[in-house]
Amino acid sequence: MKLVLLGAPGAGKGTQATKIAEKYGVTHISTGDIFRKNLKEGTPVGLKAKAYIDKGQLVPDEVTCEIVAERLKEADCKTGYMLDGFPRNVMQAEALDKMSAPDLVLNIAVDLDKLMARLTGRRVCSACGESYHVSTFSGNKCTKCGGDVIQRADDNEETVGKRLKVYTDQTQPLIDYYKAQGKLAEVDGMKAIDDVFAEIVTVLDALA
Ligand code: AP5
Ligand code: MG
Ligand code: ZN
Repeated sequence: MKLVLLGAPGAGKGTQATKIAEKYGVTHISTGDIFRKNLKEGTPVGLKAKAYIDKGQLVPDEVTCEIVAERLKEADCKTGYMLDGFPRNVMQAEALDKMSAPDLVLNIAVDLDKLMARLTGRRVCSACGESYHVSTFSGNKCTKCGGDVIQRADDNEETVGKRLKVYTDQTQPLIDYYKAQGKLAEVDGMKAIDDVFAEIVTVLDALA
């Protein structure tokens, strides 16, 4: 399976990716997670990415495409991949078509005006990346691994506003890009998490 998860910031890409990886065993690759890991480790890529992430802008294509190209060469991608947060503009989509074109692109459709609350209320595990929301979670330890649950630095109102604008300007056009290739499937991301997942399973099982 070569799968791309498309969706606005806060659409639930990471949340659903965890569930898809558990059920189908496909390798989950999140460019955002890769950048944050590099940042934590203080690598040159991490330091470069930080300047863009903090402003809610895209990290330059050459940096991002290189990271994905290298990651797709690893052994766990031999039978496929699930990309979360890549591609994010037409240039990246064209680059991916050259590296290893996806079979299916799942768009998680949401109302953009509901995303501010989702993102400013999000908390994430600093160890395993599990997502939580303050409306249903009040602790500070991850229920999966016991790691510290924190707020992402780019989940403040100002930066979220910029991320949503970047999505509308640069990423949303990919819906038409993949529709034209006949690869697009859509699920309703405004439903409850388990109901969104059930829709995804229906789409993925129909592929097999
Ligand atoms: P990235 O980490 O990819 O962030 P993003 O795209 O903004 O998406 P998020 O991770 O914020 O949202 P998500 O869809 O994963 O939602 P989640 O499941 O957590 O990128 C961060 C930055 O890195 C970018 O701004 C950019 O600078 C850089 N970057 C990354 N990739 C790049 C690329 N390709 N090119 C250039 N730069 C790049 O859910 C959100 C919240 O909602 C959680 O609290 C969750 O519990 C809750 N929730 C989820 N689903 C539901 C539901 N159905 N109902 C109610 N609540 C829900
Ligand atoms: Mg995410
Ligand atoms: Zn954890």
